[in-house]
Amino acid sequence: MGLGAVALGPAAALVSSASKVFANSGGITAGDAALLRFAAAAEILETDFWVQYNELGGIQDSEVPGGSGNPTYTAALSVLDGDMDQYIHDNTEDEFTHQNFLNAYLASKGAETVSLEKFRTLPGSSATGSSGALRLTNLMQLTLDTSWWTRYRSRTKNPDLNPGFQFPQAIPGLNSGQFTAIPRTDADLTPPDHIQAIANTAGFHFPTIEQGGNSLYPAMAQRASSVEVLRILISIGPTETMHFQTWADKAGNAPPLTDPTNGLVFPDLNSPPFGGQNFQTNLIMPEPCNFLSPNLPVCSVIRPTETKGIAMGVVNFLTAMGLFVGQSAEFFSELNALAAAADAAERS
Ligand SMILES: [Fe+2]
Ligand SMILES: [Fe+2]
Repeated sequence: MGLGAVALGPAAALVSSASKVFANSGGITAGDAALLRFAAAAEILETDFWVQYNELGGIQDSEVPGGSGNPTYTAALSVLDGDMDQYIHDNTEDEFTHQNFLNAYLASKGAETVSLEKFRTLPGSSATGSSGALRLTNLMQLTLDTSWWTRYRSRTKNPDLNPGFQFPQAIPGLNSGQFTAIPRTDADLTPPDHIQAIANTAGFHFPTIEQGGNSLYPAMAQRASSVEVLRILISIGPTETMHFQTWADKAGNAPPLTDPTNGLVFPDLNSPPFGGQNFQTNLIMPEPCNFLSPNLPVCSVIRPTETKGIAMGVVNFLTAMGLFVGQSAEFFSELNALAAAADAAERS
């Protein structure tokens, strides 16, 4: 509050500050609308790439239409778990509902909604099963940071308290170079270890993405002003965690192999130099770590949940992943603007 507002007296200052807070956003504050708009954008992007997975490796039905399935890719995914096609379908449907709900809620409050349709310009897979539709996201040049694997197993390090600490990668190869997580054309369907490496890459992309949602929602929720917006954020967030936990379990079933076409290695995570507390594949529950202060007892928590800069952090994370390779400068400026607005939101 500036000196001028103080001069008006407390009641007038409150009215003036409230009208600013509620400007152009109907029944919710401008900050709450910005938080929900960034969440909606993230969900639109999630929906776009999950649709690509479902067209090729999920179950195509009236709940999640599009595509006709790629039997070779679907079979390679099923090596990780016989229910992979069902889980891909269900995760895709969840993202559709997140995107639709958030935009509908914004509209119901008279707030601006989010559409990224003008950026639907990327050619996707032309392999058997793809709808051939234009995409917002690129699954064919991914660089995956798989350090969440060891971040959630560390008993001593929390990125919120140890921001400089480098958690080891589960699959170091995926973090250097660009790899496709879907068959780009039918030429990717052979040899068998190549299409299996592609399915393994998808198997690690799924939890890599979903753990981002684990952090995004609780981090943003700390700056929600209305209890209802808080409720939305803390009710969607845990479904991302359910996705993450499922996918973290399945990723551990990816068979060790080397892709003969590019040398990408999926190591045996249960044998030296891997194995042990940091890598053993069935250790999928989070270990406790320091939370808030090293003077408090360790606690099993989502990490990180620092709220400052979370939206821009997510944009940077997805960009570094290669998910937007081929997108326009206008796309990045719009996404950055949505993130900056969300990061500027303050709890009132
Ligand atoms: Fe979602
Ligand atoms: Fe998700």
